[in-house]
Amino acid sequence: MNINHHPQNESEETLTNQQGHPVTNNQSVRTVGNRGPTTLENYDFLEKISHFDRERIPERVVHARGAGAHGYFQSYGTVNGEPISKYTRAKVFTNTEVQTPVFVRFSSVVHGGHSPETLRDPRGFAIKFYTEDGNWDLVGNNLKIFFIRDPLKFPDMVHSFRPDPVTNVADPERTFDFLSQSPEAAHMVTFVFSPWGIPANYRQMQGSGVHAYKWVNEEGKAVLVKYHWEPLQGIKNLTQKEADEIQKKDFNHATLDLYKAIVRGDYPEWELYVQIMEDGEHTELDFDPLDPTKLWYKEDYPWHKVGKMVLNKNPENYFTEVEQVAFGTGVLVDGLDFSDDKLLQGRTFSYSDTQRYRVGSNYLQLPINRPKKHVATNQEGGQMDYRTDIGKHKNPHVNYEPSIMGGLKEAPNPGKEHEPYVEGKVTREKISRENNFGQAGETFRRFSDWERNELISNLVDALSTCRKEIQDQMVEIFTQCDEEYGKRVREGLSQTVTNADTKTEKAVTKSEEMGHPSDPY
Ligand code: HEM
Repeated sequence: MNINHHPQNESEETLTNQQGHPVTNNQSVRTVGNRGPTTLENYDFLEKISHFDRERIPERVVHARGAGAHGYFQSYGTVNGEPISKYTRAKVFTNTEVQTPVFVRFSSVVHGGHSPETLRDPRGFAIKFYTEDGNWDLVGNNLKIFFIRDPLKFPDMVHSFRPDPVTNVADPERTFDFLSQSPEAAHMVTFVFSPWGIPANYRQMQGSGVHAYKWVNEEGKAVLVKYHWEPLQGIKNLTQKEADEIQKKDFNHATLDLYKAIVRGDYPEWELYVQIMEDGEHTELDFDPLDPTKLWYKEDYPWHKVGKMVLNKNPENYFTEVEQVAFGTGVLVDGLDFSDDKLLQGRTFSYSDTQRYRVGSNYLQLPINRPKKHVATNQEGGQMDYRTDIGKHKNPHVNYEPSIMGGLKEAPNPGKEHEPYVEGKVTREKISRENNFGQAGETFRRFSDWERNELISNLVDALSTCRKEIQDQMVEIFTQCDEEYGKRVREGLSQTVTNADTKTEKAVTKSEEMGHPSDPY
């Protein structure tokens, strides 16, 4: 008998509970008389309320506020006029016929799931590519560098950015207390306190993988590579005043901007660029190419266009897609590899670790996380293991490997392994070429006037609430970046002391009137 049809008294719209029982009364609990008390065998009520009690999962510990969309990526197949296969054998790049499905999640970093999208913060830009070789995640930000280079410092850094554990209010004094003792952050602070720290929306911002990764070709040879996304909608950043104006009326503006653009068929697009460097230490450079606090300047390492991404479909359900999606820096496919960047390696542990806790041990079985290609694994069990294809590809009695009884078999190696040679003493040390201030000073000088003015004004506003020792240490850092930079922050801070009682409203500067972002990076 076919039971996959609706009984006579039901239709597509009939409300049921999760056991498939039709709900005939969704308004009143069962009670003794119509005034109560309620009865305990109220299965429908107990199921409904206990499921509701569990509707929330833990927020992401960072990047909790986000928005997502589906789309595709298509490779152009060349790098600077040469076939891309010279550098990588990853099919997502070599196969130009395929439109690889993607899911992208944009986010802000520090505050909670419903925090305003106008806050000064880096923006996350994470892409899951459902490639023919399995998933590849590129988990980047809008900015091209990061605050720190050692993963051991990440939890402290995040604590200093987040609300005070006593007052539950974020406090710039705590943030700058940490930053003033972390000179490697000077470059990122220079970006975040400039208009680049408040992108106008998600469609008009760049993206970057930040770290150096590797591309590996058929011969197992590798090059270092950095990824950058350039929005075809143009780049737009906000002044602090513009952001304040938006926030007065709307704290969801970036989510709505993305959602509405896709609804009206104005699909946002980004082109993917790569910068390529020979693999190696590059002792000729005054910085370490694996240092994520550094830019590889465009003039030295040109950006090569390698493909395009289009976002053309909104999620059907926020929770099942945007909330439960799980990206990780370890999720690479053949032809793509890690570099030795320590921050990247620290991250690679953190993502799947948090996702086993945040979403659950079988998070990779959820439709949003599951590869769109065949998956056949002996990893099994755990809460909510709902694989529907167990036994389809093999003898279901054999959940181990090796076996001669019809179990799963190892795949042939698709190309020569990349086998970098590593030697050295095991140590806890900083890198040798820290050069914490050179590029930060250069960025300060490359900004256009309105960006520099905003930077100084935003830093002075934030630092004015900090104690003198922290202000002095930050001024010292900015001075080491560029004399003028330090001088202007020092002068600004002395003005705030003088003007403490005469709070004058600053003129509203508009980023459009001031010109386009400088983008010389
Ligand atoms: C999210 C850790 C540095 C970009 C997260 C999450 C963790 C984390 C635990 C939450 C993941 C989840 O719940 O699914 C770390 C650690 C870092 C680090 C330990 C350094 C040691 C970075 C850097 C970038 C970055 C350098 C940018 C290049 C992101 C993005 C997300 C994220 C975009 C949100 C992903 C999403 O939309 O689901 N990070 N992170 N993180 N991180 Fe990091």
